[in-house]
Amino acid sequence: MHFPSLLVLGAALVPSVFSSPIVARCTGPDVNAATIALIKQFEGFVPNVYKDPVGLPTVGYGHLCKTAGCGEVPYPFPLSEENATKLMKADLKSFQQTITLKTASHVTLNANQYGALVSWAFNVGSGAVGTSTLLARLNAGENEATVIAQELPRWNKAGGKVLAGLTRRRAAEVALAQTSTSAKAIPACS
Ligand SMILES: *[C@@H]1O[C@H](CO)[C@@H](O)[C@H](O)[C@H]1NC(C)=O
Repeated sequence: MHFPSLLVLGAALVPSVFSSPIVARCTGPDVNAATIALIKQFEGFVPNVYKDPVGLPTVGYGHLCKTAGCGEVPYPFPLSEENATKLMKADLKSFQQTITLKTASHVTLNANQYGALVSWAFNVGSGAVGTSTLLARLNAGENEATVIAQELPRWNKAGGKVLAGLTRRRAAEVALAQTSTSAKAIPACS
């Protein structure tokens, strides 16, 4: 007598077990136009890959090449600005995911705050974001606007030295984050 209902229950459980990883996946929103403009301004446009004797070159708007010839780029060189923009938007996806998935569920970011943090992540790398005091303070429940304004400017050094370009970029990111908007970004999936 109980068997039929158990079978129904079992049948109902199988699809939900299989579908739960899909439900749990959350895609971060694309950054807004103001963020694209900010990143372009600070990365600069490089149409051609030049041989870099020290490390791997960058091309387009700050695309870090995976090989010396940048063969993974699916566009012809010299890159057009339009194709370089497409490449940058594709590169930004993993940093959008970093900010989206590493922020705790209670963290709220509008589109400008989110864009500022994605620009920062694109610049410093997802690993640095993960171990940052900035992220820890957001996830501890501190006020988002306060944390961004206090923590972003600290990320202005390379090799232990303050770089003017990084100081300017952090100031521009803070200014973007402080620009009011009604467009929401985070939480992206709740
Ligand atoms: C942009 O890339 C496409 C390949 O996806 C290529 O066919 C096209 O010629 C490129 N545009 C320019 C202006 O280089």
